[in-house]
Amino acid sequence: MSLAPSQAPSTLLKSDTPKSEPCIITIFGATGDLTQRKLIPAIYNLTRDGSLHENTVVVGFARRPKTDEQFRNEMKEGIEKFSRTKPLDASVWKKVSEKLFYHQSTFEDPAGYQKLAERFQQLDKQFNTGGRRLYYLSTSPTEFTTVVNNLGEAGLGNIDPFSPTAWRRVIVEKPFGRDLKTALDLNANIARVFDEKQIFRIDHYLGKQTVQNMLVFRFANGMFEPVWNRNHIDSVQITVAEAIGVEGRGGYYETSGALRDMIQNHLMQLLTLTAMEPPAALDGNSIRDEKVKVLRSIQPLTPEEVARRTVRGQYQAATIGGKDAKGYREEERIAPDSQTETFAAVKLLIDNWRWKGVPFYLRSGKRMPRQGSEICIHFKPAPGVLFGADGRHLAHNILVLRVQPNEGMSLLINAKTPGTVTKIVPARLEFSYDVAFGSYSPEAYERLLLDAIHGDSTLFIRNDEVEGSWKIIDSIEAGWAANSPPLSFYPGGTWGPPEASKLLERDGHKWDPLSDPTKRELSFDTDE
Ligand code: BG6
Repeated sequence: MSLAPSQAPSTLLKSDTPKSEPCIITIFGATGDLTQRKLIPAIYNLTRDGSLHENTVVVGFARRPKTDEQFRNEMKEGIEKFSRTKPLDASVWKKVSEKLFYHQSTFEDPAGYQKLAERFQQLDKQFNTGGRRLYYLSTSPTEFTTVVNNLGEAGLGNIDPFSPTAWRRVIVEKPFGRDLKTALDLNANIARVFDEKQIFRIDHYLGKQTVQNMLVFRFANGMFEPVWNRNHIDSVQITVAEAIGVEGRGGYYETSGALRDMIQNHLMQLLTLTAMEPPAALDGNSIRDEKVKVLRSIQPLTPEEVARRTVRGQYQAATIGGKDAKGYREEERIAPDSQTETFAAVKLLIDNWRWKGVPFYLRSGKRMPRQGSEICIHFKPAPGVLFGADGRHLAHNILVLRVQPNEGMSLLINAKTPGTVTKIVPARLEFSYDVAFGSYSPEAYERLLLDAIHGDSTLFIRNDEVEGSWKIIDSIEAGWAANSPPLSFYPGGTWGPPEASKLLERDGHKWDPLSDPTKRELSFDTDE
């Protein structure tokens, strides 16, 4: 008998990938970008690696009329362009394409779902998929409830009581609501059809190797946990920088902005994994219980705190690397007087025993000088009684967890330069995934799709996590709606508006420059 999702052991505990069962994956909104760029290439690579059962069927569900053949050709192009492995392996593509189908229907039409149910029965017979269904909601968020309701009406939601091997799970893409109220409504609507243990809210950052390694790093090593607290840590910085601009996603981005698009989900996830207590066990609920406690220990910001502890910025036109780059307001489908932020920085405080008084600085922006996501843990400096007693500055030890690119970590320590005098400089101890284990690294969506097929929700977001995070974000959005602080501007290709530096300077800190993978030498003691 298959394990119910709540009982499925976390794959974090396993040294081997569990065997996948045959199932039907249905992608709603299959003609969208995500399917071609991420989902189908992920299925192709999982097939290539032998991680999926050979009878894994994929049905693309979307409005536009299209034949199976047309859909397959488009998906093939997607793999050729976006797969992490190249060139396309014809024998793997054959396996994928033979089980790839297209189902045309509007999201609103109940008849489309009845026909889908009939198609499922026929596919179950043909491929022995045993009533196991994974639904992937990759539509616009305004359609999530419609799709879920229609699945429920067509009897495609709840598990068939006469089929103990069948399961039904739904993966929900972000954005999960645009504030607490809409997230609560969405949770309630989905809960009418699916139990919480069937719902897999995706945050693709949790599929990244270094993010998963956070748990291993913290809880499989004896030396970090004793110093992982306010007694030894001075501050924490979390940066997710992107070099790209809004890239034709203006319609969505105008309603979102950096705070909702990145901080509410990806950065808050990085924060909770950094700050959480050791879980009682490595299963989905134990880990998520601890993450929720962190969120509950962060008080929503008062209007005065929003004015003092947050920064919002928007990129302006600039010449970057000799090329002209548009300002945000000149991009497609952006209002010429748009107030949407493309950069956000926030100082958060976690009011619990471990972290009281330790600032967590979060920043994320588009059109930064380069792409990079890092968590920097600043330790308190050594007492300046021996070295540094002459008033010379001893650098903090900094632990840098590099989420991307060049996944790995560095520890900055003070070291003596060679020579007859004692000159102390920061030096870097370096761990790089590439160097240690070779460059193979599955894409985030591969890992997450596979986990959902195995019923492991450890790396997915629970309803109370979403709600906890929105409570904090809502308090910031409320201040911003009252224009406090006002929107600042930064030229494209820079690290955000000057206000972002002032946010840290007020506390006697400064942002760590992102490690530069093109440089081997230490760059942490330099200004950018
Ligand atoms: C998405 C955001 O969730 O994450 C995008 O909607 C952003 O705006 C993307 O570009 C960044 O993801 P990654 O994996 O490229 O860091």
